[in-house]
Amino acid sequence: MNVSEAVATRRSVRKFLPDPVPLEVITRVLEKAQRAPSGGNTQPWNAVVLSGAPLERLTADILVHAQANPMGSGGEYAIYPEGLAGRHEEQRRAVGREMFDAIGLARDDMPGRMAQMADNWRSFGAPVQLFTYTAKYMGPPQWSDLGMWLQTVMLLLREEGLDSCAQEIWAMHGKHMKTQLGIADDHIFFCGMAIGYRDAGAPINGFAVPRVPLSDVVRFEGF
Ligand SMILES: Cc1cc2nc3c(=O)[nH]c(=O)nc-3n(C[C@H](O)[C@H](O)[C@H](O)COP(=O)(O)O)c2cc1C
Repeated sequence: MNVSEAVATRRSVRKFLPDPVPLEVITRVLEKAQRAPSGGNTQPWNAVVLSGAPLERLTADILVHAQANPMGSGGEYAIYPEGLAGRHEEQRRAVGREMFDAIGLARDDMPGRMAQMADNWRSFGAPVQLFTYTAKYMGPPQWSDLGMWLQTVMLLLREEGLDSCAQEIWAMHGKHMKTQLGIADDHIFFCGMAIGYRDAGAPINGFAVPRVPLSDVVRFEGF
């Protein structure tokens, strides 16, 4: 698989097969991802990777915790900026609409939609979760570095035939996650990432997620 194929075949997978992923595969991916760039080579990413019984325990815990705190508890950053508007807000709504349409959930089927959202807490059935965090004093450049590392991981997972879904939803309960994962309070929890093998036939893994035309976001000069 070349880089273009990895980029083209990566998508956020929201239904995984239960097949386990060997530790050596995850380790190989993360060893390679250490080559990700970062400003000043600060390498500001940190992660905890769970599978098996520890992931089962965490899943059981968050299902109870999230139900008791449906609006979140101890989130340490805004998942979206206040006043998200224009095409950004439209795109955010569109991906949700397409996802719910793909699995036949009507607009007014709130219980169905809530149940689908709650599947985030089950890692969409994935056997591995990678939780990321960084030191609290890090700023936007280092958060960008963290994102570059995450994408490097996601592309390397494709090379191994694996899939992923980054999951910011866990940050709704950032402080709780830090307690559960033994992350010191001078760090900030960023997101989860479900990792496993995609259920290729599942409609939720098949809907289109369009991108805006390049001309909307890039300007070329001097060519
Ligand atoms: C940092 C980050 C956090 C995300 N959090 C979630 C999440 O909590 N739940 C979810 O279903 N998708 C989540 N996504 C997936 C995005 O919705 C998805 O990347 C976007 O719609 C583009 O679709 P694609 O990844 O399939 O190309 C997240 C993606 C990123 C990069």
